[in-house]
Parts: sequence; C-alpha cells; structure tokens
Amino acid sequence: MARILLTGGAGYIGSHTYLGLVEAGHEVVILDNFTNARDDVPERLERISGRPATVYRGDVLDRALLDRIFADQAIDGVVHFAALKAVGESVQKPLDYIHTNVGGLLTLLAAMEAAGVRCIVFSSSATVYGDTDIQRIPEDHPRSHTSPYGYTKITGETALEQVAAADARWAVGILRYFNPVGAHRSALIGEDPGDIPNNLMPYIAKVATGELRRINVFGDDYNTPDGTGVRDYIHVEDLAHGHVLSLNALMETGESHAVNLGTGIGSSVLDVIRAYSAACGRDLPYRIVARRQGDVSSVTALPDKARAVLGFEAQKTLDDMCRSSWAWVSGQIANR
Ligand code: UD1
Repeated sequence: MARILLTGGAGYIGSHTYLGLVEAGHEVVILDNFTNARDDVPERLERISGRPATVYRGDVLDRALLDRIFADQAIDGVVHFAALKAVGESVQKPLDYIHTNVGGLLTLLAAMEAAGVRCIVFSSSATVYGDTDIQRIPEDHPRSHTSPYGYTKITGETALEQVAAADARWAVGILRYFNPVGAHRSALIGEDPGDIPNNLMPYIAKVATGELRRINVFGDDYNTPDGTGVRDYIHVEDLAHGHVLSLNALMETGESHAVNLGTGIGSSVLDVIRAYSAACGRDLPYRIVARRQGDVSSVTALPDKARAVLGFEAQKTLDDMCRSSWAWVSGQIANR
C-alpha cells in the first residue's frame, strides 16, 4: 500500500485511475481545480469505491497548496494528469497551454523535490510522435510536435528525463496514451465533454443520444482499408490499469520507463461507427466530409514494451468500449 497524490484526479482518465489505484489497495489523494471535471465526481467515486475520497480543490500551479498537501499527507508517489488537453485550443492559446502544462509540471516537481517525494507517473500522449504514418509506433520513434499541446508533452517528458538522469533517486514513468475511450463499468463516471466534442467517440455518443444529428467522417480517401482514418482506441479502464502497473513498477524497481499504452489494434472511423451502432441498437447516421486539417491516416501503438516492462496488456475490445460509453451516456440522459 502506498499513498498517492493524483493531480487532475477528478477528470476523465484521472477518475478511472483513482478507482484502479484504490482497487489495487493504495490510498489516493486528489488535487483538482475542477475546470474540466464535474463537481459530483468525488461523490460518485465514493459511491463506486465505498470509501471516503480525500479531495483538495486547487491548482497544480499553487506551490503553497502543494507544500501543504505534501506536509499533511505523507505522499509516496504522484500520478500527474492535471493539464489542458485540447489540441485545437492549444493552437489558439499556446501561452495558456505552456503555462499550465509545463509550468504545472515544474511547480509540482519542485514541490516533490522539497518534500523528498521522487516517484512520478506522467500523463503523456502519442501526439509526441508528431506527424508520422508508420505502422505500430515504437517508443524510440523520434519525437516531434505539430501543436503547442504536443510541444508541452515533449517538454514535460524531456524535463522528467533530465531530472531522472541527474539524480538516481527519481523514478519516472512516462505513459503515452493512444486514443482513450469508453467509461467505467459502473456507468457512473465517463467522459463528459461540453458543447460539440472534437474527438470521434464522444461525438458519436452525442449522435447516439440524439443531441447531435449525424457524424461527420473526416475523409474517406486515406490509404487505409476502408479509406477512413485508423486509430488505436483503448478502453479507459485498461488505461487506468496501466497507471497502477507503472506506479507499482517504479516503487518496486526504482527504474524509470517510457511506454506506449495502446492495444496495437487499429480501427477505422467506420469500424467505430458500426461498433457503436451495435452497442446502441440503431444505425447511426453519418456523412463523408473533407479531411480535417492536421489529421494523419493511421496511428497505432507497438504495445510490446508496456507488456515487457509493466506486464501491461489491454483486455477490452472495441465493442466493450462502445458498450460502456453507451451505458454511461444513456444513463446520463435518463437521469436528467
Ligand atoms: C486527438 C488528438 C490527440 C489526442 C487524442 C485524444 C488531434 C490532432 N489529435 O487524436 O493529440 O491525444 O485526440 O483522444 O486533435 N474523426 C471523424 N469525425 C469526427 C472526429 C474525428 O471522422 O467528428 C476521425 C479523425 O479524422 C480520426 C479519428 O476520427 O481519423 C479519431 O479522431 P479523434 O478522436 O479526434 O482523435 P485523434 O485525432 O486521433
């Protein structure tokens, strides 16, 4: 058992990871400013886990607050999610992204160093591989960025690598997510984007609930089996489990790692629409529109390193992802 600080622990991936860590026997303290999380997430986490949740409402840029948490909570390790994550918005507001994502990480690392806590799992993204079309991307693929968001993830990874290289007491886990989707099996927590979602699965979910009319498929002339974009979708509960394995490995071995968290399986936009239609019981309407600027044809993980280093293997299928998403969003509609 360890005591873990989870920054951004009320968000989409953070809340699922909270439950994974609690299930694995850890004690978890959440720090979240709730700018992109619902106020009722803590009480939902309490309902699911049957245990009271310790939640600090505040910002990862607030050094005094971090110092207080480390002084009060006897933290052994940190899982750091708190960050901004919309690629398009980052192009409009690069300074906000650099301030929150890079500044937040640096503030956290300084507070950790001062408190003598030197174990951290960092939320990174396949976006660090930039504009690549290679099949099944390995971790040693060169990093490059195509947006300020990508820049902040590469900068964060680089800072962590340098800290770990300079001082062997630091243990750093860098996790590069492919496309996290789906919701918790309880259907009490899930992704909840406001307005019109940018990402495919939340958009499809809103078509399934009737909030949006039809899916726009961004291009059908890619060099893929059916011409639509291919991605490596991973169930958020599998992803959450990857964080538990990463943290346990860091605490057991003290060895840092950087790994992909994906399934290694590519699904096209039409595959996802078909699977979601089956999950919700009706053929969801779509139309083919122009390609979205900046999209690449195919992004899938080479998942071998996560298996070798962490024993990680994604368990859930695309059907599981769609069914759990539908259970979550249809439950939300029913409760309105
Ligand atoms: C995006 C981000 C990535 C982030 C990930 C989170 C960009 C350029 N990349 O990846 O950094 O880590 O989300 O999950 O924004 N599509 C449609 N119609 C839609 C929406 C998407 O056809 O309404 C297609 C896209 O062209 C793509 C696939 O669906 O082929 C997946 O798109 P999306 O869910 O936005 O994820 P990514 O672009 O892979």
